[in-house]
Amino acid sequence: MEKLLQNKVCIITGAAQGIGKAIVERFAEDGAIVYAFDRQLGAMDEWTKLISEKFETKIVPMYCDITDGLIVKDALRSIYKQEGHIDVLVNNAGVVFNRRIGMIMREETELMFRVNVIAMLELIQLVSRFMARIKGGAIVNIASVTGVLGSPGQVAYSATKGAVITLTKSAAKELAMQGIRVNAVAPGVVKTERFLELYETAGEKIDERIKKIALGRLGEPRDVANACAFLASDRAAYISGQVLSVDGCASI
Ligand SMILES: NC(=O)c1ccc[n+]([C@@H]2O[C@H](COP(=O)([O-])OP(=O)(O)OC[C@H]3O[C@@H](n4cnc5c(N)ncnc54)[C@H](O)[C@@H]3O)[C@@H](O)[C@H]2O)c1
Repeated sequence: MEKLLQNKVCIITGAAQGIGKAIVERFAEDGAIVYAFDRQLGAMDEWTKLISEKFETKIVPMYCDITDGLIVKDALRSIYKQEGHIDVLVNNAGVVFNRRIGMIMREETELMFRVNVIAMLELIQLVSRFMARIKGGAIVNIASVTGVLGSPGQVAYSATKGAVITLTKSAAKELAMQGIRVNAVAPGVVKTERFLELYETAGEKIDERIKKIALGRLGEPRDVANACAFLASDRAAYISGQVLSVDGCASI
């Protein structure tokens, strides 16, 4: 049976851990050739090898700080030269500082906008040039339920994720002419190491949070990865400019 992403060349940012790692695994299972970008290169060596052997596909971990335009440009050029096409980009890398309005520092806000929004926009700018050459491609941006609903204690972070959502819609309209689809996935609370740690330090009880989720559990990284695989695949050929919430029915 044909796999969902068979032979598609896919770039995933923020791939070293959490949701990004789950996306790499799911894409490899679906037959994709995966380029895994992160600032933590060493953290990807072992498990990418294991997954690549398990699913008999190619996974290439690459050092890439997405805020460094020159590194990003070089990385994309070398992938295009090697593969001859770039089919999918998943913009997953993100940083978060959970602070109330009175406490948020300018440096934290600037860093979040630089990574979560500006670097994402520049990646779309660069990758869409390569995708345009083959008149097609799919881009999936990781937003957040906080960008849809807003969230106390996450004023600046939620603003970056709101920006991701509008950026997604505008890019989808602009790039449609070149056959490129752009969608966003908006996760709720996902059980990654980072988020569990943040919850504990913020003193919020996970049990209380779960009570607000209709499906009665936190999200797993794999839940988000499944949505990304669908939106990246040709099964979603007529879907663009959409925001798919993956939050256990917490945002309606
Ligand atoms: N975990 C959640 O509950 C949740 C909920 C909603 C949205 N999200 C979003 O999902 C995405 C992944 O979240 P996560 O919980 O897996 O986070 P995480 O912190 O566990 O992983 C983020 C990864 O991004 C990488 N990264 C950060 N800055 C980078 C840069 N400049 N260049 C390259 N890589 C960089 C980190 O090294 C890390 O590997 C983020 O965009 C986050 O905002 C997460």
